[in-house]
Parts: sequence; C-alpha cells; structure tokens
Amino acid sequence: MTFKSPKSFFAPLAVGAPAPLREIPARPSRAIHFFDPSNPKMVDKIPQMVGTVDVLLGNLEDAVKADNKVAAREGLVTIAQGTDFGPTQLWTRINSLDSPWALDDLTTLVTEIGDKLDVVMVPKVQGAEDIHYVDRLLAQLEAKAGLTRPILVHAILETARGVAEVENIALASPRMQGISLGPADLAADRKMKTTRVGGGHPGYLVRADPASSSLEDITSPSRTIFQQDLWHYTIAKMVDACAAAGIYPYYGPFGDITDVVATEDQFRNAFLLGCVGTWSLHPKQIEIANRVFSPSVEDIRHARRVVAAMGDGTGAVMLDGKMEDDASLKQCLVMVALAEELAAIDPKLKELYDAIELDGQTKGDNA
Ligand code: GLV
Ligand code: MG
Repeated sequence: MTFKSPKSFFAPLAVGAPAPLREIPARPSRAIHFFDPSNPKMVDKIPQMVGTVDVLLGNLEDAVKADNKVAAREGLVTIAQGTDFGPTQLWTRINSLDSPWALDDLTTLVTEIGDKLDVVMVPKVQGAEDIHYVDRLLAQLEAKAGLTRPILVHAILETARGVAEVENIALASPRMQGISLGPADLAADRKMKTTRVGGGHPGYLVRADPASSSLEDITSPSRTIFQQDLWHYTIAKMVDACAAAGIYPYYGPFGDITDVVATEDQFRNAFLLGCVGTWSLHPKQIEIANRVFSPSVEDIRHARRVVAAMGDGTGAVMLDGKMEDDASLKQCLVMVALAEELAAIDPKLKELYDAIELDGQTKGDNA
C-alpha cells in the first residue's frame, strides 16, 4: 500500500512542466518507420516520406553502430529542425537506460527538438521503475525547454521481466502512449532457441495424428503440419495490458524484408488481436502495414450494416443468417471509429470508405 493520491498521478513531475494528458489521443500509427539519422542516404529520403507514413522514427538504439551514436543523435536534431512533418508524427527510439548514451539522448532531444517530438520509445523496459525514471527526467527537461505539451512514452516489450510486469509498465505514467513487441531481444532474453527477428519458425508446430500406430504411418510425410505462432501469448498479454490502461499496442519488427507474404500474415494476426500498428524497417513494409492496419471495405460495409440494423443498440437482429447483438455491435463500432480516424488523414481511404453502399457493391473500383 502506498500513500500516493490518485490526484497526484496527473500532477506535473517538475515545476513548469506541462500537465500530463488525461487521455492518449487516437492518432493513426499504422506504420512506425525506422530510419538511422546517421545514415545520409536514409536521411535524404525523410522529407519525401512526410505524409506517406503515419510515424517517422529516428532510431538511436540497436542497428546504429556504437561509433555513430552521437552522429545519429545530432543527425536527428538537424532533420527535426529542418523538416515540417505536417500530419506525420515524429518519434525517436533512445538507447537503453543502462547504456552510456540514454541520458544525453533525452537531454539533447528534449531541449533541442522537444516541440517536434511526439513520442519517445524506450527499449528493454524491465518494470515500472524504468518508466518512472524517464517520466521525471522528461518533466524536468520539458520545464527547462519551456515546452507546452507533454512528450509521450512508448515501451518496448523485450525482456522476460518486462512481459511479467507488462500491466505495471502500461499503468506506470499518464505519459504511456503504447507498447510494442520486441521479438528479437525478447527471444534472446528468454533464451528462446530462435535466431531471427520476429515472425514464425518452421520448428514450432503441431502435427496431425498418424493414420495408425505403424511406424510407416507415424513417419509418413503426408501428416499435415500446422505451424504455430511463437508470439501469440505475448501479443495477447500486451493487448490486454494496453486496453486496460487506455494505451495502444503494436507489433514490432519483422526482419525478413523479402518475405512480404509472411510479413503481412504476422501484421494481420496482430491487427486481429487488437494492435493498432507495427514497425516498418523498409519502405515496402509501410504499404503492407497501411493496408493491413486499415479495416477493409468489406469489414466497414458489414460494420455499417450492423450499426444500421441495430437501431438503439439493444436486443438482437438476424443479418445474413447470423445473430447480431449489442456485443457484435460494439465490435463493429470499433471498426467504424477506426475507419473514421484513418479517413481523416488518408484521402484514398476516405474515398474508398465514402463509396461503400450498404446494400450493394462499392461504387467505382473496389480496391
Ligand atoms: C526490437 O527492438 C527487437 O528486439 O525485436
Ligand atoms: Mg530490441
């Protein structure tokens, strides 16, 4: 039992820091596109990417060489100062809190470009104490920089203890915006026996029963194999923690850039389970994420038909032979609300959703 009043949860943690938000705004973040601010080729492309992706993230942590850490931090300051990000959010991933760079990452970024930064992603979070450390430091730096809006915090779930503590992490601060799965570090930390960045594994499977107990049937190659999802448990646990805390869950990296089909499958599993977006490690993953994390025309047509048929929302109706009630209506309202949020920033989607006719086919092209 602590003696902390619930009221103090929403008090600024430093004199002069902006007041914490009471609710995390539902800003579209289907793809969080990672770039290395120390890589001039990637940096050159950033201005053209504004408006084509929901979130651009300047990555300072893993994938940036130790010798380039300072260049990446300074590069991000230069890009942020020189770019108008319009509707695109700017996030960063700082170095882990036990590294020699994290303190300077936060100090430099908040004081130099704090007015442009929407979210700070914190890697390798172990428990609520890591969020409390960042929370207080951000408040001090915001006050110093004279910022008027709080910078939000996003945790990566990539330690075994972090998974065990995910509810405490989600609830640790009103700054918490969301949580992403970090399958690569999580696999290492848990001592899983995989060697990849996200996605499935052909060895993680169940097999159909043999036709008989003869050795021939047992060893028959015709027994169907069903590959299982290594990440199901963790994603589901993360989604529950985030939903309960009023913040947003995300899939993370999918390292096999060439396997666009498996990428899409992994993203869709996360979408269906409740995630709002994913990371993009290559421009071609942005298109996949934008498509997968936007409800389809078919889903929206169905959702709107249920909303129309359910009237005041109580009772039950039959639609196409299926029972719909207030629980299925609530699911449909989630889809309709998401479609509206996305249509507000994506004119192509708006056109698609606006063209939906409830009792017939979509007007024009049904993409
Ligand atoms: C992401 O940072 C991961 O470790 O998967
Ligand atoms: Mg990681």
